[in-house]
Amino acid sequence: MNLTRRPRRNRQSAVIRDMVQETRLSVTDFILPLFILEGKNVRSEVASMPGIYRLSLDLLLDEIQECVDLGINTFDLFPNLPEARKDKYATESYNPDGLYLQAVRAIKDRFPDVMVMTDVAMDPYSSDGHDGIVENGKILNDETLEVLGKMTLAQAQAGANIIGPSDMMDGRVGYLRQVLDEGGFHDVAIMSYAAKYASAFYGPFRDALDSAPKFGDKKTYQMNPGNSREALIEAQLDFEEGADFLMVKPALAYLDIIKLLDDNFHLPIAAYNVSGEYAMIKAAAQNGWLDGERAMMESLMAIKRAGANVILTYFAKEAARLL
Ligand code: PBG
Repeated sequence: MNLTRRPRRNRQSAVIRDMVQETRLSVTDFILPLFILEGKNVRSEVASMPGIYRLSLDLLLDEIQECVDLGINTFDLFPNLPEARKDKYATESYNPDGLYLQAVRAIKDRFPDVMVMTDVAMDPYSSDGHDGIVENGKILNDETLEVLGKMTLAQAQAGANIIGPSDMMDGRVGYLRQVLDEGGFHDVAIMSYAAKYASAFYGPFRDALDSAPKFGDKKTYQMNPGNSREALIEAQLDFEEGADFLMVKPALAYLDIIKLLDDNFHLPIAAYNVSGEYAMIKAAAQNGWLDGERAMMESLMAIKRAGANVILTYFAKEAARLL
């Protein structure tokens, strides 16, 4: 048959498939989230995230060295704190001698060229397990901003390069930009969790940090998974308030939102390939139900194809080895 168009012509060999490939992953796309805990020489695997460990600072520095050798240069740090360090107002979050800020300083000290991203939200430090201050079962928006401001300033003083507000309080990007500028930290960037959904896919992360909410859920601040137009409002506000990157979270169930923000905003778009997305692939692979490596690379590719130029992923190290 004489067909004018035979799309298969461009798929006939590895060389030609490679030549016409539109999206290519690179190790420079990745940010690796890391979990830190107190102690020395401690390595504790997250049960629901095979291959992912909470590390004490000494081992964390070794881990970063390994990642840097693989070409990964940006890390997003999260603390696992004992219950005794948590309180209603997350005061440990701006304790300069606390685990988290010590770790930020140590990383920047040993690896000045590494970019350290810090998490801005109350939950790892909150005895209520919420991202904001809780009063009579309600999350107080504006009062929470003050805590986030102290946390941000302390993180910048410790050497953070990018702060990642993951709390979803209204007005926080503008408020934190002002706090940073007034502190002289004009070069500290903000990667706002612009469209962060109230998702079941955060389960394993909350295991990793022992940070699940003690009551209720996060639906009064995180977005409803049924909404996409609302993501444009959140992104617009964060853009106007001075965000340097806009993040979508989770990634795989929200590829349409990644595309939506990429089409509408001229800022780098980040996507957080979250803990549950990691756990699903790992669990299926461990059962022999799918090829874990291929599923990992295909998912990361899909996130990039949808429009993310930055991918936060627990797969960073594994993917870097394959690239
Ligand atoms: C909380 C926070 C969460 C994640 C990052 N920051 C969980 C939550 O909102 O409860 C999830 C990351 C993941 O699941 O990998 N501020």
